[in-house]
Amino acid sequence: MVNETNLTKFFNASVKETDPEVSSIIKSEIKRMAEGLEMIPSENVVSLSVLNALGSVFTNKYSEGYPHKRYYGGNENADSVESLAIERAKKLFGVPHVNVQPYSGSPANLAAYFAVCEPGDTVMGLNLPDGGHLTHGWKVNFSAKYYKSVPYHVKPDGYIDLDEVKKLALENKPKLIWCGATAYVREFPFEELGQIADEVGAYFAADIAHVAGLIVGGAHKSPVSHAHIVTTTTHKTLRGPRGAMIMVTQKGLDKDAELAQKIDKAIFPGLQGGPHDHQTAAIAVALGEALKPEFADYAKQIVKNNITLGKTLMDNGIKLVTNGSDNHMQLIDLTQYGKGKGVFVQNALDAAHITVNKNTIPSDPSTPFYPSGIRLGTPAITSRGMKEMEVTLIGKWIAEIIKEIAPAYDLPEDKTKAQYIESVNPEIKQNAVVQRVKQNVMQLCSKFPLYATLDY
Ligand SMILES: Cc1ncc(COP(=O)(O)O)c(C=O)c1O
Repeated sequence: MVNETNLTKFFNASVKETDPEVSSIIKSEIKRMAEGLEMIPSENVVSLSVLNALGSVFTNKYSEGYPHKRYYGGNENADSVESLAIERAKKLFGVPHVNVQPYSGSPANLAAYFAVCEPGDTVMGLNLPDGGHLTHGWKVNFSAKYYKSVPYHVKPDGYIDLDEVKKLALENKPKLIWCGATAYVREFPFEELGQIADEVGAYFAADIAHVAGLIVGGAHKSPVSHAHIVTTTTHKTLRGPRGAMIMVTQKGLDKDAELAQKIDKAIFPGLQGGPHDHQTAAIAVALGEALKPEFADYAKQIVKNNITLGKTLMDNGIKLVTNGSDNHMQLIDLTQYGKGKGVFVQNALDAAHITVNKNTIPSDPSTPFYPSGIRLGTPAITSRGMKEMEVTLIGKWIAEIIKEIAPAYDLPEDKTKAQYIESVNPEIKQNAVVQRVKQNVMQLCSKFPLYATLDY
């Protein structure tokens, strides 16, 4: 029976005490992260402070509206934390207006369309199989269903084809041009794309989801003087909680004095209800961390580590898209072993406790679901304190696994692909090279403990 005493007890107990099932799953996830190398380039590991803020009582609050203009009472602290996040973001990125309420990167991008386009308007972004994001005009996404998407591409050498962008922009007169990607390994040509957008009178939006941390850490150039709108997720190289921000630049306000209000209205009431105040609190903490001088060292180390990773892979016979990278990720081209090999390599690396993702490469001979590449990167292992010495070891292990597994398995041409993959998985897991690398990885990880004090 619930009485006041055991209600109080219940509310003051931890998940460990109240819900052993969930507690055990969280424990397993901490163990998986601690005993493995997280190398998916869109992931990171946040500080305990970010976790604390994310798990704070702000999850209880409703705050529809914006600071000091809310539809609910009791928002004095929510106002403070949202205002603090906004001020920190303005300072960090050097922009006059920031909205920190988007639930995540895709809703942030949707809001940018909603603010400056009408349904049916023409928009341009990097094609998804060439590395672009779904929300930049991929055919199954809202961005191509509600707008006329004219995708641009990378050249055979893997770099964005600026001549094509210009030609398409002059022909199609888009309302909005995106720059940004989910799988692009070189620095973005913000200046060149901004000039093309200006020439055709388009809004230029830079989606810096992947490289935001590199930009604020001074490892990459900022798009702020070239773009009108900048969107970003907060959970990738920026190392915050899952979430997103939309920024309006001075150039944006010069083009359209109402742009900041249009963005805010697009988020609320246009697309969302109440902001996630616990997420906002955690974003404020992450932005505070990114403002510290150490963050610049972190951002530069991500890139140094990634350059070492690329060099090690190439020295060991692995092909990379564009023969290397300027940022935090590499795209491995597995076509020297045949097409559609990404899935076997991803599964083998998974079994060796190295988490990566299969990915298309430019002009992929296979399909997005069975692509011929691997995308991997260094933000999370750099957060754990790993440097060039560890990355060299990791690069060699990855190359060993690729050379062992990629030539050994071929995707069937017919509909039996999924069954075949399933059938060879146990063998891949037991492979001697995979097993040896797994032992090495676990030993390395034990020297870089993760969340050791967390008790679930
Ligand atoms: C460039 C880019 N934009 C937007 C997003 C969307 O972010 P979310 O997954 O938070 O919706 C991503 C996510 O991978 C991304 O890479």
